[in-house]
Amino acid sequence: MPIVWVTGGAGFIGSHLVRHLVHTQPNWHIVTIDALTYAGNLANLADLKDAPNHTFLRVNIADGPAVEKAWEAYPPDRILHLAAESHVDRSILSPLDFVHTNVLGTVTLLEMARKHWKGRTDVLFYQVSTDEVYGSLAPEDFFREGSSYDPRSPYSASKAAADHFVRAYGHTYGIPYLISNCGNNYGPYQFPEKLIPLTITHLMERKPIPVYGTGQNVRDWIYVEDHVRAIALLAEKGQRGHTYLIGARCPRPNLEIVTLLCDLYDELTGARDSRQLITFVKDRPGHDFRYAIEPSPELHALGWQPQVSLHEGLRKTLHWYLQNQAWVNAVRSGEYQSYYALQYGERLR
Ligand code: NAD
Ligand code: DAU
Repeated sequence: MPIVWVTGGAGFIGSHLVRHLVHTQPNWHIVTIDALTYAGNLANLADLKDAPNHTFLRVNIADGPAVEKAWEAYPPDRILHLAAESHVDRSILSPLDFVHTNVLGTVTLLEMARKHWKGRTDVLFYQVSTDEVYGSLAPEDFFREGSSYDPRSPYSASKAAADHFVRAYGHTYGIPYLISNCGNNYGPYQFPEKLIPLTITHLMERKPIPVYGTGQNVRDWIYVEDHVRAIALLAEKGQRGHTYLIGARCPRPNLEIVTLLCDLYDELTGARDSRQLITFVKDRPGHDFRYAIEPSPELHALGWQPQVSLHEGLRKTLHWYLQNQAWVNAVRSGEYQSYYALQYGERLR
C-alpha cells in the first residue's frame, strides 16, 4: 500500500485534500504531517478519525529529527507538500516565520527525500505553490506556464525560494517532482484571516468589512474542492518535472467579491444593507495589483475542469460559515486576537 504524506493536512486546503484522498484512494495510506500552528486544526479532520487509511502525526517540517522519526515510522512514496505559512499580511509583519517553514521546512523535507529515495523513480515530491510567485500583472495579461518568477512579498518570496529548491533537487539529485501554482482558494475551513472568510465573519457580527486601498486589486478565485481535484489528478497522472498552473478563469476585483458576499448574505439571512459595512482602509504595503491565470492546457487534457462557479461556491461557503459558528469561535480564540489587533486596530479605529 503506497504511503502518501500530505504536509499541512490539518490546514484549509490540506484538510480538503486529505478527505478527498482518504475517500477516493482506499489503497493509499494517507499520513497527515502537520505542526498544528494557529492555522492547523484537528477539527478540520474530525470526520476522518476512524478512517483506517489515515494517520495524523504532529510534526514540524523544519525539525529534521522529528521528520526523520516520522519517515522511519511511515516511509512515504509520495509527498504532497502543502505545509506553509500562508498569509501575506502576516509575512509583512514577521517574514522570518515564512523563511523558517516555507524555505527551511521545504529543504528539510527535500533532504530527507535525497537521503531515503536514492535512485527511486517511482516516488514523487509534489510542491503545492501559488500564482503569487509570478508577481503582479498589467491589465489584460495572464500568468502562463513559463512566466518568469517575480515575487514581491515576503510570503511569495519564500514560496518562490521553495519552488526553486524543489527544481534544484530534481535537477541535481534526480528527485522526481512536480509543482503546481494556483490562485486564491476559498471554501469551508478557511482561516478567517483571509478576505472571504473575514468578510463573512464580519457580516455575521455586523462589523466593518476592511477593504484595502480602493478595492480594485484583482485576485483569481477557485473553489477549494476544484483545486484539490486537480492536485489529486496530478499526483497520479502529472508529468514529472513539469509545472502546472491551476485556475478557474475567475479574476475579480476585491470590491466585487465583497459586494457579492454582502448581497448573498442579505438574501440568505434576511439581513439588510450589508453593503454599508464595507470600509476602505489603509492599503497592504506592496499590494500586488492583479493576478490572473491561464490554466495549463495539459491539465484540461487530463480531464480536469473546475466544477463550481463563483456564485455557487460563495453560496456554499456562506452556508458553511453560518452553520459552523462554533468552529469560527474556536479557531479565533487564541493567538488570532493579537494578530487581529496588530493588523486591523489602527485600520478600523
Ligand atoms: P493554511 O495556512 O490554511 O494551512 C497551512 C497548514 O500548514 C496548517 O495546518 C499549519 O498547521 C501547517 N504548518 C504550518 N507551518 C508548519 C510547519 N512548520 N510544519 C508542519 N506544518 C506546518 O494554508 P492553505 O491556505 O491551506 O495553503 C496550503 C498550501 O497551499 C500552502 O503551501 C500555500 O502556499 C498553498 N496555496 C494556498 C492558496 C490559497 O489561496 N490558500 C493558493 C495557492 C497555493
Ligand atoms: O494567490 C494565491 C494566494 O492567495 C495564496 O498563495 C495565499 O496563501 C493566500 O493567502 C492568498 O493571498 P492573498 O493575499 O491574495 O489573500 P487574502 O485573502 O489575504 O487577500 C485577498 C485580497 O483581498 C488581496 O488583494 C488583499 C485584499 N484584502 C485582504 C484582507 C485580509 C482586503 O482588502 N482586506 C482584508 O482584510
